[in-house]
Amino acid sequence: MSEPDIKKGLAGVYADVTAVSKVDPETNSLVYRGYPVQELAATQSFEAVAFLLWRGELPTEEQLGELRAVERANRALPDDVRAFIDAMPVAAHPMDEVRTVVSLLGAFETAGIDNVLDAAGTPAENLDRSIRLFAALPAVIAYGQRRRHGLEPIEPREDLDYAANFLWMTFGEEPDAVVVDAFNRSMILYAEHSFNASTFTARVITSTLSDLYSAVVGAIGALKGPLHGGANEAVLHIFTEIGSAENVVPWLDDALAAKRKIMGFGHRVYKRGDSRVPTMRQALDTLVEHYGRPDVAELYDALESEFVARKGIYPNLDYPSGPAYSLMGFDTLTFTPLFIAARITGWTAHIMEQQASNALIRPLAAYDGPDERHIEGYVPDAAEVDAIERPEEAAG
Ligand code: COA
Repeated sequence: MSEPDIKKGLAGVYADVTAVSKVDPETNSLVYRGYPVQELAATQSFEAVAFLLWRGELPTEEQLGELRAVERANRALPDDVRAFIDAMPVAAHPMDEVRTVVSLLGAFETAGIDNVLDAAGTPAENLDRSIRLFAALPAVIAYGQRRRHGLEPIEPREDLDYAANFLWMTFGEEPDAVVVDAFNRSMILYAEHSFNASTFTARVITSTLSDLYSAVVGAIGALKGPLHGGANEAVLHIFTEIGSAENVVPWLDDALAAKRKIMGFGHRVYKRGDSRVPTMRQALDTLVEHYGRPDVAELYDALESEFVARKGIYPNLDYPSGPAYSLMGFDTLTFTPLFIAARITGWTAHIMEQQASNALIRPLAAYDGPDERHIEGYVPDAAEVDAIERPEEAAG
């Protein structure tokens, strides 16, 4: 038998088709349902982009109004969910907190449904579940940050759109328009990115006919890792370690000598720059100006130019978003949960797409373990011998 062709990390493998988004590394472009993400970030609300990802078209005024009404109606943190959050250690990582809450919401949602096939839900039920999760996550994430500071949750505001309300529930202050705009852009830029690790995880789980909540819980687990979503948190740790622009060169000398990965740089698909970075960098610049923090931009530029000159590896979206979220006042620990709040739209769009055209995702592995061996003294019975001789009948 010829050696199987193994694509380690599935690099370069097309696993399925999708109509949700397209990443083109040749042209450095990312489109959601055909629209360049930069155009969406400059012109649309996150709610409108969520609708686009789920339904395939941008909403009419009326459709956007309906989505906003449902979103607002599902924003508040239910008392029983709050009680569960309060039962977790304050020191729990907020990714673990949000993952647990999504699991909990799934248990509430599917309680009483005995048949696992029914729990997987119809397309209409899953769209409703997606909207409810999208609406519920900001309160969970905002309270997570407040709880770490010993603060009570803040009730949502009916008069504010998604982005402004999210900031309101986190900080308890009416946010400035420039901050709302930067936050809204970041949500849109993070919303979707084709078959990245967390989305693929969600699709794998969905492919077994499991339910949407289980798929999202798995996706959150995949997103937590620093090679994926955890990188925006890791960027801030690097910025804190370096301190200021003049320390970049010696810091980088040491980091590269120690063979450290510089978080916020590099991408599995983009090799000549991430198409989302310029838009997020512009948003970061508006925040630098707003908060009067030129030192942040100086450090950003110094590390980027030094690292690109040495390694030819470009920043990804986590590089500008980390410092942007920090300037807005989010704790470093909250950054990756913000990514969840955004990516819930892309994940759920993919979950629904997978359900609509399902095939169980189950690749092969080339075995590279010990040669066959046996337990001393063990005598197989007749049925076993029979199964070994006719393996196709024994396979489960
Ligand atoms: N810092 C230092 N070196 C890096 C690097 C980084 N951020 N990204 C890639 N490289 C180097 C690797 O060390 C490797 O070098 P080698 O060939 O000498 O061993 C080479 O570039 C290829 O990297 P590899 O990790 O194998 O490529 P990949 O396609 O699997 O990596 C990432 C993609 C995202 C996992 C990788 O770039 C990375 O770890 N980046 C930092 C984490 C991050 O920002 N993640 C968010 C992604 S959106």
